[in-house]
Formats: sequence, structure tokens, C-alpha cells
Amino acid sequence: MDLLIKGGTLVTAESSFKADIAVSNGKISAIGTNLKPEQKTEVVDAKGKLILPGAIDGHTHLAMPFGGTVSTDDYYSGTRSAACGGTTTVFDFILQAKGELMLDAIKRRNDLAAPDAVVDYSFHIGVSDVSTKELLDSMEDAVKAGIPSFKVFMVYDFGVDDGSFYKVLQKSAKIGALVGVHAENRDVNNVLIQQYLGEGKTDAWWHYMSKNEQVEGEADVRAINLAKMAGTSLYIVHLANKQGMEAVTQARDEGYPIFAETCPQYLHFTSDVYKRKRGRDFVCSPPMKGKTSQDALWEGIKRGDITTIATDHCPFTQAEKDWGITTKDGKPGNFTTIPNGCAGIENMYPYMLSEANKGKITFNKAVELCAANPAKLFGLEDQKGSLQVGLDADIVIYDKKKDFVITNEDMHGETDHTIWEGVKIKGYPVATYSRGRLVFKDGEFLGDRGGGKLIKCKPIKFNGPQL
Ligand code: URP
Ligand code: ZN
Ligand code: ZN
Repeated sequence: MDLLIKGGTLVTAESSFKADIAVSNGKISAIGTNLKPEQKTEVVDAKGKLILPGAIDGHTHLAMPFGGTVSTDDYYSGTRSAACGGTTTVFDFILQAKGELMLDAIKRRNDLAAPDAVVDYSFHIGVSDVSTKELLDSMEDAVKAGIPSFKVFMVYDFGVDDGSFYKVLQKSAKIGALVGVHAENRDVNNVLIQQYLGEGKTDAWWHYMSKNEQVEGEADVRAINLAKMAGTSLYIVHLANKQGMEAVTQARDEGYPIFAETCPQYLHFTSDVYKRKRGRDFVCSPPMKGKTSQDALWEGIKRGDITTIATDHCPFTQAEKDWGITTKDGKPGNFTTIPNGCAGIENMYPYMLSEANKGKITFNKAVELCAANPAKLFGLEDQKGSLQVGLDADIVIYDKKKDFVITNEDMHGETDHTIWEGVKIKGYPVATYSRGRLVFKDGEFLGDRGGGKLIKCKPIKFNGPQL
């Protein structure tokens, strides 16, 4: 036995109970009362603390070329920041290049991630080209290699049309893959952009207006219909609007395997942020929506129709966000020239646990959304996402009494600002273990570059809304 955490309250998605937890060779080796250490066992006193499974962030963009630049956090600084917020597994997006086979895409990104990641990681593949049989069939090679999840973008220039989206859904039904979707109506978005710019409306507010509730909601409904037609499951990522939430609920009530992810930024901020002086720092897609949508997301969580929480971590510097005023070429900018995305990888678990600590949801629910469900949905529940003997010892010690005010100075990423600046968090992680290795303690990062490993996931097939 290498490590024994004694006297804490273990919290899983199902229950909370007082117990000791032992770790041997990176795995949870025993759970019980009055466990006895061996001679060389390190003993940690966790009386009064909660013991949680490490979070799984199902949606990040590390070192991603996007919006004319590259997102600020690479696999080292991004996973370092994750560890310091209690996240022990990160799913990053590979963007398939045109003509690139899926296995080549995985190799290309894993060559970047493997030497740098400090916690475990895996990938979803953002599909951009299934124009040939060989490219489409290469999805199956990815599934066999342990990467059974894909994402389709209904927006952006590298996104796909509905025909390609449908082909990806059909293929996934055959090979046991999960398709995630970024749902926004590209054509309506483009029309609104041209109208607003023509009227001289250039600031961040118009980013929200051109990607408003209906622009997202219509695409959610269409995506669900395409999944129903293809007879397969669908995972709507970063859901942020009420119409889409309602469509998810309806489809699930009808028995369809439709799953939704939302992100802390949609649960905490509303579209009012785009009226702030630095509203451009909040520019991400989809944008934050109005209070009605935010309330619908919280209701969706309580009803069980939101399956996961993830961050969509995709930070850019303030200078890059300022391209909304003057582009990097010195030309006048506008809301379309601001790189899309915000930092959040270190804030997800603390934020959701804080909401639990305040009584908005239970701690069990926070664990379900941030750890147990992502493990089940992405095919790694035999490795991670809970506190069970035999699973990886990805463990967070959490102090309910430690209050924290988020400030960028105390974050462990490379970004020079955070949209979470000044937000008060009730309770905070005080230690994070990744496969039994202490990677964070009392505000300090203690992990090793390259200490994380690629997690291979099982094929995924859902017949109904089991999660
Ligand atoms: O604004 C965002 N979300 N940037 C990252 C790319 C995406 O759409 O997920
Ligand atoms: Zn997206
Ligand atoms: Zn994203």
C-alpha cells in the first residue's frame, strides 16, 4: 500500500460515506473503515474533508490553431491548470485536417500531448473531411485505437454540411462511436453578421446577437433530428440555450439516446457580459445566453437531462481578444475578428462543487456530472470516474470550509486573464492525486511534465437515454 487517506467522507455519484481509501501502484486498492497502513505507506489525515473522484473534463482545446492564432495553453500548462482544479483527465479535440486519416490525426496530436501532459488525457476527433470512403472508414480505425468519439461542427469554415454530418452519424451507428456536435446555424449566423456589420454594429454584444438563442436552438433541433434519422446517439456539446434544452428533454422522454453537455460559463454568466467594458474577453461560441436559457440549463441539470459538465477551455490573451478593436494587421476589428474561447479548465470542479456546497445541487450530482457520467459516456468507466477498488487512483481532497476568490494570478495556466476574475467559490480542492501521484497540494502544482498518459476508451453504444 503506497498511500492511505484516512477519515474523510467519500463522495461518489451514488452516495456519501465515511471511509478510508488505500492506493497501491496507482490504483484504488481498498476502501473501508480503520484500514491499517503498511510500513512504507504514506498516511494522509482527511478528517472533515470530502474525498472525490478526480474530474474528467470532456471538452478542451489545448494548443489549438484557431481564430488566426493558437489557444494559449498547451498540453503542459493546460493539464497543469486542470490538476490544480481537481481535474485528472482531459479530453482534448483533435481537428482533422482536410484529407487526413483519423489515425494520422491522432498520432499528430498525441506526439504533442504525450511529452507534456501532467494528468491523463484522451481525445475526441473534430471531423472536417469524410469526402472519400477511405476517410469515412478511417473512423473505425480510431475506434479500434481507443478513440471512439467524434465532433462535428455545424459552424466555422472548417465545419461540415448536414450531408457529411449525417454520414458521420450513420457510420458511428455501425462502429460504436459517439458523435458530439457544435450546433449553431452557420447560414443564419453569416446573414446576421453581414447585417450587423453593415449597420456599423461591431462590438462584442453583436457576437451574441448573431449567435442568439434561436441560432443555436434551431441547430440543436436539426442535429437531434439527424441523429434520430440515422438511428444513433448524439452528444450536444456546450449547450447554452432553452430551445435546445427543451429539444433534448423531449427526445430523451421519447427514449432517444440524446445527451447534452453544458459548461460552467453558461451556468454562471448571462449575455449581459457582452455589455461590459471588456465584453470581448467573453467571446466564445456559443455565446452566453439570457437568464431564461440559464434557468433552463439548471433545470435540465436537476431533471437529469444534462449529462455532463465540461469547460470548452480555449483561452486567448487579452491582446488577441483586442483584435475585436484592431486586428493583428492594424485594421479596424469587430466581433468576428475576436478569437472564440475562454479559459476555464481550473474552474469547473471548484465551481460545480461550490454550487453543491451552497445547496443548489448535491455533491453527488456534481460528481456525477463532472466525473461519473463523462467516464460512462466516453467509454472509460472501467478506469476512471468513481471511487472503486480497481479504478485509477484519481482522487481529490476537498475542503468545504476553504473559501476562494478566483483571480488569474492564482490560476496555473498560461493565460493573462480570466473571465472568472473575482468570482467567489465556497470550498476548494486542497489536494489532487493522478493515479496515486500527488500533483497538487494547497495551491501549489507538484506534478511532472509527461506524467499523464493517453487513455484508450471503449466503443460506445447507447440505445436510450441511460445516462
Ligand atoms: O468559443 C469556443 N467554444 N471555442 C472553441 C471551439 C469550439 O467551438 O468549441
Ligand atoms: Zn464548439
Ligand atoms: Zn469547444
